Amino acid sequence: MNPVKISEKVYWVGGIDWKLRNFHGYSTQRGTTYNAYLILDDRITLIDTVKHHLMPEMLRNISKLIDPSRIEIIVSNHVEMDHSAGIPQILKRAPKAKVYASANGVIGLKKHYGDKLNAIAVKPGEDLQLGQYSLSFVPTPMVHWPDNMLTYLPEKKILFSNDAFGQHIASLERFDDEIDNSVLMYEAEKYYANIVLPYGAQVQKALKIAAGLDIEMIAPSHGIIFRKDLAGIISRYQKWSSGQNEEKAVVVYDTMWGSTEKMAHAIAQGFSDAGKSVSIFNTGIDHISDVMVEVLSAKYICIGSPTLNNNILPSVAAFLAYLKGLAPKGKIGIAFGSYGWGGQSPAIIHKELESAKFTLPVEPIKMNYIPSEDDLIILSDKISKLSAVEN
Ligand code: FEO
Repeated sequence: MNPVKISEKVYWVGGIDWKLRNFHGYSTQRGTTYNAYLILDDRITLIDTVKHHLMPEMLRNISKLIDPSRIEIIVSNHVEMDHSAGIPQILKRAPKAKVYASANGVIGLKKHYGDKLNAIAVKPGEDLQLGQYSLSFVPTPMVHWPDNMLTYLPEKKILFSNDAFGQHIASLERFDDEIDNSVLMYEAEKYYANIVLPYGAQVQKALKIAAGLDIEMIAPSHGIIFRKDLAGIISRYQKWSSGQNEEKAVVVYDTMWGSTEKMAHAIAQGFSDAGKSVSIFNTGIDHISDVMVEVLSAKYICIGSPTLNNNILPSVAAFLAYLKGLAPKGKIGIAFGSYGWGGQSPAIIHKELESAKFTLPVEPIKMNYIPSEDDLIILSDKISKLSAVEN
């Protein structure tokens, strides 16, 4: 890949991680990019770096434009190492360069790369003059770590948003008008559901600040740059961060001999009979990060497991742990499962959902050994009536 000019004197110089399939537990079937940006003003400025193994690619990209030793300013929008790991290498080439980060960013960078790192804390709203251009900074704590900030280039109306508005997509295309919009928005939604979801309140604050800026381009640190459909991605972030849920259901289960699966399908049928859209996932097959895409906006989350050794199946336990960490809001939960003798699994799931602050309108639903056709019809009817009441 070559550097890509994204605006006058502003270049993408990042790295493409074609082979990444797991980003700390998030399945990244399309790979990802780590986006770094170079501003060729009087004071040459680098915004963020890339994951360590792609530093040779990033340095090649920079070297096609300038000698990296000429970099004077490094802006670190986020300490997480997929964006900061290259800073020590840049500083070896350009030892006089100064690193600018948020106050929390300076603390985090020194914890990662040593107290001697020449890092300066920026103040919100402070302008950093580069020559013809300037940069200003907006702290966005917890989107995605306490140190995150946005960097704004007013002369070109570009918002360097780091993790916010990112998507895990490896591609040679750099802009939203160059790729299929449904793929882009699906990956943006998956990214939000798996990375940003716990921080809705902070996203709402950041969106309010961003609304006061004149923005013609959003340049995130992962994936595609938005220069055409900014309204589309901003309105989605508004919706996702508002905690607004849709009248749809997600049924998530694992099964041993097919009984809990039969219950899952009967529950799904009940929602469908009530006119609601429903999706079904088996945690033994489907990846938890794919399930979260549907969970993000669904009002009803139904989780089932048979009882195994007085407990729930491990794949369901893993999903529950992941779900609780992401802390979705305003959900209605239903716990279910089949059993032979102990029958503890639905109650265990119910308790987990209770501790995740789900509303639980019915007691845990359990069925002994193999549910009959009549049992399943009764279950569908119950769910259909319940979802009509909860509507
Ligand atoms: Fe892409 Fe929070 O790092």
